[in-house]
Amino acid sequence: MKIAIIGATGDMGYGLALRLAIAGHDIIIGSRQLEKAENAAVKAREESGKTNIIGMANPDAARAAELVVISVPSAGHRATVEGLKDIIAEKPVLDITIPMAFKPLRYAPPAEGSNALETQAVLGEGSRVAAGFHTISATLLSDLSHPVTGDALIVGDDAELKEQVIGLAKELGLNAYNAGALRFSSTVESLTPMLIGMNKRYGSNHMGIIITGA
Ligand SMILES: NC(=O)c1ccc[n+]([C@@H]2O[C@H](COP(=O)([O-])OP(=O)(O)OC[C@H]3O[C@@H](n4cnc5c(N)ncnc54)[C@H](OP(=O)(O)O)[C@@H]3O)[C@@H](O)[C@H]2O)c1
Repeated sequence: MKIAIIGATGDMGYGLALRLAIAGHDIIIGSRQLEKAENAAVKAREESGKTNIIGMANPDAARAAELVVISVPSAGHRATVEGLKDIIAEKPVLDITIPMAFKPLRYAPPAEGSNALETQAVLGEGSRVAAGFHTISATLLSDLSHPVTGDALIVGDDAELKEQVIGLAKELGLNAYNAGALRFSSTVESLTPMLIGMNKRYGSNHMGIIITGA
């Protein structure tokens, strides 16, 4: 699948780009600056040993993709989705962003209830939005000397898209679960600030979650 990752010059999107490229997908690293995207793609091709990674400016990346992943900091989330709306309103979108605030560290969702619900609201009726990968650490994804482990909770209202994203997570080596409708995105997004706090307390940088009893 041709997958654009908006913001894949950053840790999380970059790690996902590496792993998805290794799984055989054609990856487009998106950036607000073309040169930054191209440089990240060169580095990703070197690190992964794969040639199926290119860099483009965000709008071109989104236009070229079959699936668009939003991987920007929450502060730029709404503006990013609004800026790409004309291109992605009818495309499958995977939102992996988390609205967080600091001091104290906490979940800080927008008025819609979660970042994924904000994406759906901005893109409007007929949009197809899934959310997931919130509890998978960028450090884990980027460290190609280790397999990716842990469980991914995937939410969304479009059954076909959700199954596609679950399939992608499984290709990376994760256990992946259908965690329900997009309204549950607030629940899954809100796990990450808690995990960041736990990482600090336990001296880790990649704590995740595991579902039992399935
Ligand atoms: N880090 C993790 O372990 C982790 C795990 C799960 C989910 N997440 C979520 O994934 C998202 C990305 O995380 P990250 O750590 O990769 O973030 P990041 O490094 O801070 O940012 C990712 C990229 O977003 C672009 N960006 C920065 N500010 C922006 C703005 N105001 N508007 C639009 N684009 C902007 C930048 O790319 P350009 O300058 O190239 O455009 C940057 O390289 C976040 O929402 C985070 O909460 C992170």
